[in-house]
Amino acid sequence: MKKDDCRINGYTRTCGLIGNPVEHTLSPLIHNTLAGQMKENLVYVPLHVQAGNVKEAVEGAWALNLLGINVTVPYKSEVIPYLKEIDPLAAGIGAVNTLVRSGSGFKGYNTDMPGLLRAMTYDGVRIAGENFIILGAGGAARAVAVLLASQKAAQIYLLNRTPEKAQAVAEEVNKITGRRIVEGMMLTEYDRLPGRTKYTAIQASSVGMFPDVDTVILEDPAFYRMLHTGYDLIFNPGITKFMRLTMEQGGNAFNGVRMLLYQGVIAYELWTGTEVPEALSLKIYEELKEAMGI
Ligand code: ATR
Repeated sequence: MKKDDCRINGYTRTCGLIGNPVEHTLSPLIHNTLAGQMKENLVYVPLHVQAGNVKEAVEGAWALNLLGINVTVPYKSEVIPYLKEIDPLAAGIGAVNTLVRSGSGFKGYNTDMPGLLRAMTYDGVRIAGENFIILGAGGAARAVAVLLASQKAAQIYLLNRTPEKAQAVAEEVNKITGRRIVEGMMLTEYDRLPGRTKYTAIQASSVGMFPDVDTVILEDPAFYRMLHTGYDLIFNPGITKFMRLTMEQGGNAFNGVRMLLYQGVIAYELWTGTEVPEALSLKIYEELKEAMGI
């Protein structure tokens, strides 16, 4: 029995995903492929946690010597009080998706946003000095606003069906970043945006997600003419209606598969202290698309 043997043995380290539900996750594919290819004696398993059991789950994972945990819906904020430490970016975003075993407890990170940043960089979507529209004002939209502000975006317009929510998120993010960079508006107010520039729009609502693939948060072609890029955080379907409408008006469109990939890669790097070669990330990207049938 060897420590670097890739079969499960007495040295195998365990990581897992807590959430509710977890049955449709693609994370085991990402992490178990990474472990196999990187010759790391590590397994990654889904861990379905029922409502009300998050504290026990984190304490239990610590007691069972788990190396790392991913956290998904609906526990990304609920998990925070049970951490020993929290990374400043995750604290600013208010959501943790990765727990790393350290010292006397778990340290919480957010790898969703660094994952989005790595994906946007790969896709050639610039942030610094650029103007953005974020669609939606939920947890994902708020996190994107924090990321874009931290990466020196010029101006961010956060558009939402419920404008009060957009304004509240904008206020919070402006307070965190110390700049009046985010403006919250009603979803249909895009005709008020300065027209001298073209925008990158980040679609951060759940509208258009499988199985509701024929829905989109905004239909008006005039909105899509304002964009040079449409970035949808949704990864199923592979081409959303939002992406289709963006492309119909001549914009570049991207889905959320690369963000999904890189949030996993970054979590794996945090757990193992390794650097995943880009060629391996690209191989896993192809496997993810195959698993999704896209
Ligand atoms: P998460 O926290 O996972 O990002 P969420 O809190 O469910 O997601 O937020 C979903 C976002 O999508 C919200 O901004 C919601 O708008 P409201 O704040 O007005 O509820 C937006 N959304 C959901 N369904 C929508 C629809 N049919 N049309 C427009 N916006 C919608």
